[in-house]
This record gives sequence, structure tokens and C-alpha cells, in this order.
Amino acid sequence: MPEFDLAIRGATVVTASDTMRADIGIRDGRIAALAERIADAARTIDASGLLALPGGIDSHVHIDQPSGPGIVMADDFASATRAAAAGGNTCVMPFALQPRGASLRETVDAYRARAEGACLIDAAIHLIVADPTDSVLGQELPALVADGYTSFKVFMTYDDLVLNDRELLEVFAVARREGARVMVHAEGYDTIRYLSEKLERAGETRPYGHALSRPQTVEREAAHRAISHAELIDLPIVIVHVSGAEATEQIAWAQARGLRIHAETCPQYLTLTAEDMKGIGDADAMAGAKYVCSPPLRDAASQEAVWSGIRRGIFDVVSSDHCPFRYDDPAGKLNPRGKTSFRWIPNGIPGIETRLPVLFSEGVSKGRISLNRFVALTATNHARLYGLYPRKGSIAPGFDADITLWDPNRRETIRQANLHHGSDYTPWEGFAVTGWPVMTLGRGEVIAEEGRILGEPGRGRILDRAVDPSERRAA
Ligand code: URP
Ligand code: ZN
Ligand code: ZN
Repeated sequence: MPEFDLAIRGATVVTASDTMRADIGIRDGRIAALAERIADAARTIDASGLLALPGGIDSHVHIDQPSGPGIVMADDFASATRAAAAGGNTCVMPFALQPRGASLRETVDAYRARAEGACLIDAAIHLIVADPTDSVLGQELPALVADGYTSFKVFMTYDDLVLNDRELLEVFAVARREGARVMVHAEGYDTIRYLSEKLERAGETRPYGHALSRPQTVEREAAHRAISHAELIDLPIVIVHVSGAEATEQIAWAQARGLRIHAETCPQYLTLTAEDMKGIGDADAMAGAKYVCSPPLRDAASQEAVWSGIRRGIFDVVSSDHCPFRYDDPAGKLNPRGKTSFRWIPNGIPGIETRLPVLFSEGVSKGRISLNRFVALTATNHARLYGLYPRKGSIAPGFDADITLWDPNRRETIRQANLHHGSDYTPWEGFAVTGWPVMTLGRGEVIAEEGRILGEPGRGRILDRAVDPSERRAA
């Protein structure tokens, strides 16, 4: 009887802290050994010349999420996790969004039921708290955290989601008591409304108006307010999808004061700009809608500031904020109201399959970040921040055998035609990359190889998590 079910031989194994030439022995879906040469295995994969990286963990994705009247998200759990696996990921973290007036428990139960049996890769579910009533704060939220939903997002904008300052403070206090991780969407609601209405009155309704309605000041102010609330409650928070220089500055300032403020950015803020929202060179006046996301894309100087933040350790994670809509679809970007004003274009862009190649190419291949930092930003820190470590996020004995074999020299051009998501476009169409995921293994099973999906939908597990008891503190 061979000692291992599978041996990966000849790869350079990269973790957040080490780079080594080692064989990987896998047994029962877990990494059982890492050694210069391992014993016999039932099956061998020759990975000479390839990197073995921890499978990507994308801790900020929107899948099958209610998106307003007449609007339909382009991915369900099957298509999103298929695309994620093809792009080198082995775990995603989508959101169960509580509609106002709804029970948080019923929301997450229904959402989980849609995920069960559909996912190709593992998933852990965050909550979105949009209606922090007394019963949500007093009963439902603490019970859900205890049941393994240990992280949730709150919004400082959007008509149906915004929490006021008092509500933010109340929610932060519950998170502190229960040891939950809070993610904050930092953009100021009132300012956006003021600017949007002013732009519309002036006739600026193009997709590009979206960028004008949410300048960096809006994000900077909200980031500062969230940081101040977090300081007051003494709660570590994650400021998600940081888009530009000004919010980055606020976070750097907070961290320098010793506050535990974590930060996430996304490939779109490193590679695209607001100019893309003008649809320049495109015959279609609405083409800029393909790039409408919040916070909006910025400029080249902001890209550099975010790269600098990554290098200085201000950012913990790079996620996709995959929020896919179809473009040429009345239930997507080109919905009838969206054609009348940027205000009605659904916010969000697809990116679950392209996150890793874009960041690897622009980061590692262009010499901006090390391989180890790439692993930290795309897997290890996600696992650590959201309670999946030491089950996921590294390559070491005992971890799930979630491994991506990566060709660092492979040149590819991103094309919608080759992607697996449910959207009908990619914002990175024609984007040239160096470095490509050639094989993805989830718990020791080959689930994607060279763009072909091999695993069965439904093999992915929905993961419960536990809070770190040291994070649970009296309010
Ligand atoms: O535009 C975006 N990012 N839409 C997704 C929802 C969010 O705020 O993350
Ligand atoms: Zn958000
Ligand atoms: Zn998001």
C-alpha cells in the first residue's frame, strides 16, 4: 500500500515565508509530508519547472446575491466556483446579504442552501448586516457568530444597506464582544447622494458620472470615520476594496497610531483607471458601464500609491470583489434605467478568475512584490484574517491539500472567450500577463487543468469557522 495518495514532485514550493524545492505528499486530502524526496504514492504529478503555491483564497466575492429590482447577478455558486478554480483558487468567501426587515438567520440559511451541493471549491460565508435591529444585535448575530459565521460586512453607503454612525458603533460593539471580524465598505452616503443629484441636474449621466459622484474625498472621509469608530470601540476592522491614495493614507496613519486597521485592495485599483469608464475608442456610448464599481477606479497616481501601500505592508489582502453582471443584458449593466443615468448601473465587475494572474504578472513578474508576498496577499492572510488558518492558506503538513501549480514564465492574454464566469465580458480583455495557473488541486483532487474543469460541482464544502477566543472582549 503506497504511503501517499498523491505525490507532487519537482516543484518549487512557496509559502508566505519560505521558498524551497520539495516534494509534497498528500493523504486523505491533506498535506502529509514535505520533503526533498518522498516515498511511494498511488499517483504522481511531475511539477518540474512549476511553482506550488497555496490555492488562492478570495475573501471578497459576490455570488448569487440579490441586486435590486430587475437586476440579476451573472454568477451562481456553480459558475463562480468553476471560474475561481480555473483561475487558481481553492476557496471563496461570498456574502449572505440581509435585506432590511429580514431575519439574518433566515437569510443565511437560505443562502447556504443555495451554495450546498453547487460549489466546485470550498466556500465560507460572510454575513452582510443591513438591518441591525435589537433582535439582530442581541440574539441573531451572536448566535450566528457562535455557529461559525464569524465575519460580516457593513456599508456606509447604498440606499438599502447604509448604516448610520450610531448603528455602526452598536454593530462594532457586538463584534468586539463576540470576537467577530468586521469588514467595512467606506464611502459616505450623503455626499454621494448630494454629488449624484448635482451631476444629474447638470446632465452628466454617462457611466463616467459614477466616478465623479464618488471622488476620493468620499472614501477618505468614510475611511477616517470608520477608523475613528473602531478606535472608540477598540475593535480591529478590515477596510475593504481600498481604491486610492487618500484612503490608503488614512489607513497608514491609523496603523502608525497603533490601531489594528486591516486593509484590502483589488486588482482593478492597480491596473485600471477612471478613464476606462469613458469608453474611449468604443463605438458604444455605454461601454464605460463595464467598469462601474464602487469605490470607482482612480488614476495612475493612485495605482502607484496602492502599490506602495502593498510594498509597505499597509495592505493585508488583495481580493477580487468579484461582483459580476452581464453587460449586454436588460438585467445587467444595460438595464433600461441604467441607460438614463450612471446611478442605475449595477455596481461591480467580474474578476474571480483573473485576480491571481493579473496580480502575479503586475506584481511578481514586474518585480514589484516577492513571490512570498504574493502568497501572503492572495491566500495566507485571507485565511488568517477570517478564521481559516491553519486549515487553509499554506503548504505544510496538516493543511488541506489546496495547491495551485503555477508556470511563472507562461505568457497569456486574458480573453472573455476563455473564461468560465457567467458574465459576458471581462474588464481585462486583451490584457497580457506573464505567469499562469496550470493546475488547481482542491483537497488533493485535481479540479482544473489548463482551463479545463475536472472536478464535480458539489464537491466544495461550506466551511464553518471559530472565533479566536482572545478576540472576544467585554464591551
Ligand atoms: O461595486 C462593487 N464593488 N460592488 C460590490 C458591492 C461592494 O460594495 O462590494
Ligand atoms: Zn463594498
Ligand atoms: Zn464587494
